[in-house]
Amino acid sequence: MGDELIQILPGVPSAPVRPLGEACADVVDEGRHEAAANPLGRRFYLETIGCQMNVHDSEKVAGVLMGRGFEPVEDPEGADIILYNTCSIREKAVHKVFSRLGAIKKKHGDKIIGVLGCVAQQEGEKFFERAPQVSLVCGSASYSRLPELLDQLGAGNRRVTGLGLDTDECFETELTRRDNPFRAYLTIIEGCDKACSYCVVPTTRGPERSRAGDRILEECRRLVDAGYTEIQLLGQTVNSWRDSSALGLSFAGLLGRVAETPGVRRVRFTTSHPRDFTPDIVQAIDEHPALCDQIHLPVQCGSNAVLRRMLRTYAREEYLEKIDCIRRARREISISTDMIVGFCGETEADFDESLSLLDRVEYDQVFAFKYSPRPRTPAGGWVDDVPEEEKGRRLAELQERQRQIQIRRNHALIGREFEVLVEGHHPKLAQAVGRTTSNRVINFAGAEDDVGRYLNVRVTAAAPNSLVGERVTKE
Ligand code: 5AD
Ligand code: SF4
Repeated sequence: MGDELIQILPGVPSAPVRPLGEACADVVDEGRHEAAANPLGRRFYLETIGCQMNVHDSEKVAGVLMGRGFEPVEDPEGADIILYNTCSIREKAVHKVFSRLGAIKKKHGDKIIGVLGCVAQQEGEKFFERAPQVSLVCGSASYSRLPELLDQLGAGNRRVTGLGLDTDECFETELTRRDNPFRAYLTIIEGCDKACSYCVVPTTRGPERSRAGDRILEECRRLVDAGYTEIQLLGQTVNSWRDSSALGLSFAGLLGRVAETPGVRRVRFTTSHPRDFTPDIVQAIDEHPALCDQIHLPVQCGSNAVLRRMLRTYAREEYLEKIDCIRRARREISISTDMIVGFCGETEADFDESLSLLDRVEYDQVFAFKYSPRPRTPAGGWVDDVPEEEKGRRLAELQERQRQIQIRRNHALIGREFEVLVEGHHPKLAQAVGRTTSNRVINFAGAEDDVGRYLNVRVTAAAPNSLVGERVTKE
């Protein structure tokens, strides 16, 4: 889920302007805001630095703002308000935010600059000291308050924050602007009640809050009406979801109901926690063709000693039982994972256990990271004793081992046929790019009008991260 940079582009017509509700901003500093020279300026530029959860949060932010008459623009130059939606899971992403802020300070000192998301939540009001050019700091649970916060700034307040964590309003934004034309993200659970010793998420996103099952199904129907055929259910620990509605669904039951929604062709869900991963999820995938044959099940490390220190609440053997359960499914399910190398006290022998786990599981994709100590986490106070250089070496070795596995696995797919949803095309190359339900990318000869279609493609060649194919049938 890397911390790649995604810019939210405008393009969706804005919704009708609603009258403002009661302003409820936490005004930190009532002094005049020199920067708010144009209190009427409502053009906003929003940049996302983070994971899928962040990308979807940005869709909600854009929706909320557009619903109140703010207008998205493509670059900071044309904006009155510059917003960064940030991730703080690793230090690298935090650096990126501060370097962005440094760069815009010189060029755009006259604009309202706001920071949203995990970094905002984590730094809170301290942000204003570290980056005085920032006048708005808002965490993910408070996005529906953004228009009010901005209006407070427009009215002359110098600094405002929205940092509450005890709400579930994050689910029920009135309008979400969706930037992926094929896949609609749908948050079903916010926050996290696990307490992995390296992770900031419980602090930045707060305790677990599940969205009611009946509301989720309602939203699914709305998404289908809006033309989406693929739905991705999101949550930090998506399979820890519990139903508070009268339907009383289990997570596997919810998957089944979403998959049965007329018009839904593909359902994905991320991220599953191994502790709450139960056989009925695999059973549901077997029973419902619309559930994609893809499971992301982060293991983090192959060594029991390290898993214990990470407070992951499972042992290697228990994790492998879940993998074996997935492998016993009637459908062939692709499996991906996240791994951290160089966690506090990780020995060479511990690292070897991670390598051997790759061989044992044969993942289809691995997202690997060097351990990055985070403030206000249990491990943040421990000695970060694996040198940076050694972390880099382990990361490269792990990635190379996995590359070899993917070459083998993808090569074995040559000659097989898959249905793909065409997600894009390269006009110059006359190539289309499709995705299988197992989340593999296939390039094949195609044109613009293939985009958005489901087509059958036969694999003709394989690379570690993608496949090449030829079209078999047209729908
Ligand atoms: N350092 C490195 N990687 C981390 N992750 C979470 N916290 C850290 C950290 N402090 C990784 C985990 C998680 C993914 C989203 O990010 O592998 O599954
Ligand atoms: Fe972080 Fe662990 Fe929660 Fe995942 S399960 S968000 S790694 S605390």
